Amino acid sequence: MREFRPQAAIVAPAAQQAAQKYEHPHLLQNYRRAPVNIVRGEGCELIDDTGARYLDFVAGIAVCALGHAHPEITKAIAAQAATLVQASNLYHHEPAGTLANELARRSGLGRVFFCNSGSEANEAAIKLARKLAFRKGELGRVNILACSGSFHGRTMGALAATDNPKYHEGFEPLPLGFSFTPFNDVDALESAIDETTAAFIVEPVQGESGITPADPAFLVAARRLTRENGALLIFDEIQCGMGRLGPLFAFESFGVKPDVVTVAKALANGLPIGAVLIDEACASGLQPGDHGSTFGGSPVPCAAALAHLRVRSSIGLEAHVAEVGALLVAGLRELERDFPKVYGPPRGRGLMLGLPVLEPFAAADIVKTAMKERLFINAAGANTLRFVPPLILTAEEGRRGLALLRSATEEAFEAQLT
Ligand SMILES: Cc1ncc(COP(=O)(O)O)c(C=O)c1O
Repeated sequence: MREFRPQAAIVAPAAQQAAQKYEHPHLLQNYRRAPVNIVRGEGCELIDDTGARYLDFVAGIAVCALGHAHPEITKAIAAQAATLVQASNLYHHEPAGTLANELARRSGLGRVFFCNSGSEANEAAIKLARKLAFRKGELGRVNILACSGSFHGRTMGALAATDNPKYHEGFEPLPLGFSFTPFNDVDALESAIDETTAAFIVEPVQGESGITPADPAFLVAARRLTRENGALLIFDEIQCGMGRLGPLFAFESFGVKPDVVTVAKALANGLPIGAVLIDEACASGLQPGDHGSTFGGSPVPCAAALAHLRVRSSIGLEAHVAEVGALLVAGLRELERDFPKVYGPPRGRGLMLGLPVLEPFAAADIVKTAMKERLFINAAGANTLRFVPPLILTAEEGRRGLALLRSATEEAFEAQLT
């Protein structure tokens, strides 16, 4: 038998080998992973295989709201794993039912569909909007309207609603019936919504395109115009929901109630889950056989999500997010003041913040320098630093992160001068 030798190990030139130390030859090369091997998480810190500790302002990309290895979440996962891991949606089980009750009670949206990710939640919401119109006999109402700068996921439907040509390239043809209207432009929205619109989908705070909050007046107008035109209003709260802005749901912080909310990311504090929360008035859109998911709402992620919601309520996270968010914004404003050639004014709400980086500086370089300082941040959109730390971040950790970012900025600034 021929000796098995991983290809990458044979072909990597010596110069690349250090950077590729942790590359796995059989993992698909669709991510540019940083050269660090994370082995453990504790609270707001991640620990690598050399024992180095990093302050984590990424939180698994806005996922670990209660930080890493939270004992209550760990306990809930272990207990559920020892009891029932999968039963399918052919039968009832308590964790999904209880979580649906809890989400319906807290959102006021009476029906919940569970899936496994944000993209899947948006797919389901899009299918709901179309099927609801179909059931009403409105056969021309098929269009899904989304915003410029939107990101709704990488599956084909969610991708078609995503306004980023880079993500579309090479994947066409995408599903038909998707169009875009400028974000935060009420007049354009008024012209774009009509009797062919099945749904308008919008992120209350755009995440991937660089942390841009909606104007409250834009969301108020969206509510009015969708109602007047018989279309659904869908809020994609996959990144900005689950307490990231303070209240559990982003719509609460804007005072506008949509017909449908999609959530995922932080819901189970790290386990894969997505959910579509649907107003009773439009829940008849999806009926038995219309849509489904083998793993959707399986017991372990549901148990983790229930523990997350329970802990969240018991520690008064909403006020904490407002307080630590304000501290971070103040610190980012100081950085903008002290490095006016490097940074623009910070944007965002709660603990979903962005700091624009000015050319010739590159957000990606500052991310790398920050990692050397043992701070994880990442870049989003066009040259913006994104800060989505665990929501339990303490004021002390917030100040420490700002100090590390200051050191990284000084280093990047000096490197640019030389
Ligand atoms: C607003 C928004 N919608 C949808 C998604 C897709 O979620 P997932 O990666 O879980 O499919 C993301 C992911 O970043 C997101 O930020």
